[in-house]
Amino acid sequence: MEHLGLNEIRERYLKFFESKQHLRLPSFSLIPENDKTLLLIPAGMAPLKSYFTGEQTPPAPRITTCQKCIHTNDIENVGFTARHLTFFEMLGNFSFGDYFKLEAIAWAWEFVTQVLEMPEDRLYVSVYEKDDEAMEIWTKNVGVAPDHMFRMGKADNFWEIGTGVGPCGPCSEIYFDRGEQYACGPDCHPGCDCDRFVEFWNLVFTQFENDGHDNYLPLAKKNIDTGMGLERIACIMQEVGSLFEVDTMTAITQRVCEMAGVERGHDPKTEISLRIITDHIRATVMLVCDGVHPSNEGRGYILRRLLRRAARHGRLLGIRSGFLTELADTVFEISGKAYPQIIEKSDYIRRVIRLEEERFDKTIDAGLKLLSEHIDEMKASGKTVMDGAEAFKLYDTFGFPVDLTVEILGEQDFTLDREAFERCMNEQRDRARDARKKHALGWGSDDAGALKQLPETVFTGYTSCTGTGKVLAILSGGETREGVGMDEEATLLLDSTTFYAESGGQIGDTGVIECDTGSFRVTDVTKTPDHKFLHSGVVTRGTLSVGDSVRTLVDEPRRQAISRAHCAAHLLQAALRLVLGTHVEQAGSLVEPDRVRFDFTHFAALTDDEKAKVEALVNEEILKALSGSMTEMPTDEAKKLGAIALFGEKYGKTVRVVRYGDYSCELCGGTHIDNTAKVGLFRIVGEGSVAAGVRRVEGVTGLGVLELLKTREDTIARTAMALKTSVSEVEHAAEIMAATVREQKQTIDGLSGKIARAEVEGLLKSAKAVGGVKLISAKVNADLERMRTMCDILRDIDTTVVVMFGAVADGKVQLSCACGADAVKMGAHAGKLVKAAAAIVGGGGGGRPDSASAGGRNPEKLDEALASVEANLAAMLK
Ligand code: SER
Repeated sequence: MEHLGLNEIRERYLKFFESKQHLRLPSFSLIPENDKTLLLIPAGMAPLKSYFTGEQTPPAPRITTCQKCIHTNDIENVGFTARHLTFFEMLGNFSFGDYFKLEAIAWAWEFVTQVLEMPEDRLYVSVYEKDDEAMEIWTKNVGVAPDHMFRMGKADNFWEIGTGVGPCGPCSEIYFDRGEQYACGPDCHPGCDCDRFVEFWNLVFTQFENDGHDNYLPLAKKNIDTGMGLERIACIMQEVGSLFEVDTMTAITQRVCEMAGVERGHDPKTEISLRIITDHIRATVMLVCDGVHPSNEGRGYILRRLLRRAARHGRLLGIRSGFLTELADTVFEISGKAYPQIIEKSDYIRRVIRLEEERFDKTIDAGLKLLSEHIDEMKASGKTVMDGAEAFKLYDTFGFPVDLTVEILGEQDFTLDREAFERCMNEQRDRARDARKKHALGWGSDDAGALKQLPETVFTGYTSCTGTGKVLAILSGGETREGVGMDEEATLLLDSTTFYAESGGQIGDTGVIECDTGSFRVTDVTKTPDHKFLHSGVVTRGTLSVGDSVRTLVDEPRRQAISRAHCAAHLLQAALRLVLGTHVEQAGSLVEPDRVRFDFTHFAALTDDEKAKVEALVNEEILKALSGSMTEMPTDEAKKLGAIALFGEKYGKTVRVVRYGDYSCELCGGTHIDNTAKVGLFRIVGEGSVAAGVRRVEGVTGLGVLELLKTREDTIARTAMALKTSVSEVEHAAEIMAATVREQKQTIDGLSGKIARAEVEGLLKSAKAVGGVKLISAKVNADLERMRTMCDILRDIDTTVVVMFGAVADGKVQLSCACGADAVKMGAHAGKLVKAAAAIVGGGGGGRPDSASAGGRNPEKLDEALASVEANLAAMLK
């Protein structure tokens, strides 16, 4: 076979399928777009999923690509075998409802036998056991010898994406026979696990869609998805023993050998380290290029893990720090032609790698030392499982990704108490969350120091919602970062911004920060005491990096609504001082979109009349359309103007004075509208007390009023419906209903009295003579109120009666007891009787001699409690 370089094979493949009318597309990003089921792209077809399902229309019915892929499920194996890679390239040709099995098979055969000129007698093909059609095409149309064909089961010849969700179907695989010397025995055959028959091309006849619950729904249109691992086919064509001996891989390994001053093929441990570094630097360059940044979560964690694992193996080879940054250049050289982006972004990629290397460099030696000491201790004490807290310390203080720790432990047959480690992680997450909530910046002290150096943020948002700025720092996952990628949560610091940061009661703006490479959705903005604005949010497209020039786009309608409410707050304060007196001082406020909450000093609840007056005054000023002015001036001058300041607040030399006509003049840093008319309308929706001497008024403005009206109208409409009447009749209908209810209650009360009396008379007849009194002790079906009424009635009818009622409700016992006047004279005591009975049902209570009640927890003891009354009573009678 012709010795073909990896880059040459890629080009021949894409060209071949272009000659079969395929559209050649560049590789898609490793970060899936609009696909939450995948963290990273694992196969050539993955970025095309929506074309396969028909959700989107492909740019052409036939496409060919060489796709960057990453496999992450067995990172720890990479290096130890010759066939595991994290990063690899997958060649593929795809048909979306266009050609199907016949062409896919025929072209695949043409490519391998004619373009790559692989000898037919060394090729074998498998088909899905039930796929007679494919078998027929391979043997009849293409002419593969039947003894080179194999049928295999679902496990081997039915392809599904790792997550199980998405397009799938039966497949055919092409194998290359590397020769008998690689055979595992006389039964060696394609599909067995040894190194003789290498599967290198998978042709999937995609005709189903798995909904995620193993329901295979037929796809409307049948598709073709083929995938050929580029490194693997290069390995075959170059007739080398492993993926790591392919030309492009060797170039990297060679460079590492030079750096380390070692040679290949002498020491198995060295081989492992060389393979790890070679694989990981490729993955690293590609991941960073596609916008992944090292971090402790998700994709960022994978990158960090790869980088730090490689850094450790660099140490094992005796290479000092910084070598990965240098090694990236070799990747640029070998892959730059196929992936021009890595050249375009090479400076950036180097910077990200260098920073991560530097970060780990500070702690790696100390961490490795600590870990090896710990392993020695464990050996000495016969322990084999490391504490979670130790691994957490390595992670938290020394930056060791937990999987790296586990791997190092594993090298000496130790394991980690992973659960305990996760507990430590969760505790830390909670701490970080609390810290964020409190605004105490939730990152390490090193980082906080670096942030202190940054200049104050310039706020340019008073006059415009859109502006520009530069990213000065990024915080994510508790540390400073060079950049953030898709789906990552972060906090951005800019040199200047149009986003208002929460202060003076006004909440922060929301919106978007964007540049050409990415977008960031801002969900909250706060500021540090030293005036740095913290834009919190999430990356929704691409990446953002330190140094990026960005556009700041505040959500304008929301900002307008906030400014309306803020204007209303000022008008409200002035009105309150006019109506209630100048003792009114602002004690706090919250200004949100079309909603304001204003706390102020005042001693009594506002009367309806006062509320109406305040509301009317505010609305009058709104309708006067007073224009607003916002001016910076020296504090003294502002005071002379009579501007209202916040009690106890310290102001700087210059202040911002916000005025609406002569009506309102306040010191205020918030955002405002330029004319009161824009508030629309103001309505008070609540009034109450906050603390002694502090009242609160809540109001709505603008569209908030409209919403309020709508809600109230809806309530009235629903009430009318419930009363089965029209909106105009609802008041009348409610009055009639209330009157009816009153009448009916009277009737019911009368009837209940009669029923009770009748019951009572029956009970009296059944009374038992104890001493000189008549004892009634009975379980009844009534609430406490009714039991008391019945007791009262009995006592009134007969003064020698002693009555004890017990009832069960909601699993609890209630007891009510009464003694007639003569019974009391004879020594009966309701309080004592009920106390004794309650003790039996697991409760307590007591009361007066003539009347008492109690409760208990054990209904099953109620009969016993009621039966005990007789003896207790007999004992207390004189
Ligand atoms: N999707 C199949 C694979 O990954 C063919 O491209 O092997």
